[in-house]
Amino acid sequence: RTCLLIGAPVQVGAGRLGCDMGPSAFRAAGLGPALEDLGYRVEDRGNLTIPSAPVLEHANPAIRHLGEIAAWTKALADAAHAASREGMPIFLGGDHSLSAGTMTGLSRRATEEGRELFVLWLDSHPDFHTLDSTRSGNLHGVPMAYAVGRPGFEGFLPPNPAPLKPENVCMIGLRSVDPAERQALRDSKVTVHDMRAIDENGIATLLADFLDKVRAANGLLHVSLDVDFLDPGIAPGVGTTVPGGATFREAHLVMEMLHDTGLVASLDLVELNPFVDERGRTALLLVDLVASLMGRTVLDRPTKSF
Ligand code: ARG
Ligand code: MN
Ligand code: MN
Ligand code: MN
Repeated sequence: RTCLLIGAPVQVGAGRLGCDMGPSAFRAAGLGPALEDLGYRVEDRGNLTIPSAPVLEHANPAIRHLGEIAAWTKALADAAHAASREGMPIFLGGDHSLSAGTMTGLSRRATEEGRELFVLWLDSHPDFHTLDSTRSGNLHGVPMAYAVGRPGFEGFLPPNPAPLKPENVCMIGLRSVDPAERQALRDSKVTVHDMRAIDENGIATLLADFLDKVRAANGLLHVSLDVDFLDPGIAPGVGTTVPGGATFREAHLVMEMLHDTGLVASLDLVELNPFVDERGRTALLLVDLVASLMGRTVLDRPTKSF
């Protein structure tokens, strides 16, 4: 199996600059060699670029960089669609606005294959704002709403012909949800697990239920990993730190369980901001987590499986 590394140095979707250095940090932290050590062929496709973007106006005056994010979304959707045929794409962000593109392209691919896309969203935020509801105007707060085809994206890009089904999305790690998102999630079929659900049930139980669903549907599974899913104590290299996040052990367990299923077809690594990291430790942790996701284990025999 070939891993395709695709850099997406988009940073204007976030509230502060620096995520454009994310792809470089993943490379410097040794992501490619870590995958080669596990026996994969690795093709680093370099970084995507966008043509100079049109200025797009929106009635919500808070919105920032709409034209650029529209251009990134289109470029990423095309790249994801093409790459998903060739191997396992790993998108090196870049802020989370990039997932509007990856999920769109992957869902188009799944539809063509007569299958359905499922998304595991590991994040402290649901990123479920529409262009109308966002107050910050930071477009990394909207990709999931766009991907599932919520109204409120008129004038952004042409409507997505193959939107992701909300019932195929599972969010784990939520602990920062704006009022408009909370209401929209209540009225949607997205599965949501906040930190309380993790504490009460254990993260393995929550994840196993979702993976059963994906398996039963013979779905294609995409994982979108926002650095702020993790506790800021272990992953400080992110612009939007929220206390009380996933621990080192919870995160590794999620990755190991994902590997055991063999269902993961693609991955986003987003929101790494090397400018605020400490000696690369967040980038290094992410490389370790990806290694677990791709098959690194402690022992040579299977442990308990659900
Ligand atoms: N909900 C907040 C906003 O809309 C935070 C979004 C954070 N998103 C992220 N991908 N870090 O501004
Ligand atoms: Mn996010
Ligand atoms: Mn987040
Ligand atoms: Mn907001």
